[in-house]
Amino acid sequence: MRLQTIRERYINQLSGHFSKTEIDSILKKLIKYYFDWDSIIFLIEPNKIISKKNEAILNKSLNQLIKNKPVQYIIGSTFFYKYIFQVDPSVLIPRPETEELVSWLLEIESKDNYSKIVLDIGTGSGCIPITLKLEQKSWKVNSIDICNDAIKIAKKNAKRLNADVNFFCRDINLIEDWSESLDIIISNPPYITYKEKTNIKKNVLDYEPSSAIFVPNHNPLGFYKKIINFSINNLKSGGLLYLEINPIFVNELKGLFSKVFFDKLEVKKDFFGRYRMLKIQKR
Ligand SMILES: C[S@@+](CC[C@H](N)C(=O)[O-])C[C@H]1O[C@@H](n2cnc3c(N)ncnc32)[C@H](O)[C@@H]1O
Repeated sequence: MRLQTIRERYINQLSGHFSKTEIDSILKKLIKYYFDWDSIIFLIEPNKIISKKNEAILNKSLNQLIKNKPVQYIIGSTFFYKYIFQVDPSVLIPRPETEELVSWLLEIESKDNYSKIVLDIGTGSGCIPITLKLEQKSWKVNSIDICNDAIKIAKKNAKRLNADVNFFCRDINLIEDWSESLDIIISNPPYITYKEKTNIKKNVLDYEPSSAIFVPNHNPLGFYKKIINFSINNLKSGGLLYLEINPIFVNELKGLFSKVFFDKLEVKKDFFGRYRMLKIQKR
């Protein structure tokens, strides 16, 4: 079968799920991962003959995509910042808005040459702490997650990328004994309420870990309240919080932080113009 015919099959079968551009991007990821072919092949060799064996591989992936499995879980990896991270369904697939949060932090905090002590809350694949450590080698970077499987994936990613991060399997609700004062706390916590589920795509609902995504309708800011309590004891005076947020709660979050002893609050929009990031300095 010709490459172009495979592409047409993907477009026919997946057009209810994705736009044509998204389908092309998925197919490019698959052929890079399975056969190490660059995307240029679609332009220069659309009639390339695909062997029966390779056709079977692409058909298997197509069937998984039809069942809403994200391409990142099919190939087991994704890009974040400048690095490739291994992912499986025990961890959230890192998102571009989280890259924006990390870029914002690095842009501001790399200006001086001080070594900093950082804690990331909610490790997932380890995309945040590993990127920070790789970009700022002198920083001491720690990360906690309640999920042991996530910690295992993050440790594998750290080892492969040669990033010296300290990972701990801990529940933010139960930490009372953190040993060192922190300069920076960063977190992309779960922040979507269950009542927003109807707006969430099936590939997210069916495959990504719900404990990484959802919070109860009656307490949507619960995780941020825990971060505040933890920061009161463990963030240095003048230390900073960098948090990813649900745009619909931006005003409630501003109110929450202004009630306690935090000031210099800054809100930042993501690439799509939605309020998505908060930076708050502790008094
Ligand atoms: C939105 S995901 C973020 C993952 C990763 N930082 C990223 O940006 O891709 C939130 C993470 O918080 C973790 N988590 C949920 N509840 C937690 C708790 N009580 N204590 C610590 N981590 C928790 C989840 O297991 C999940 O990995």
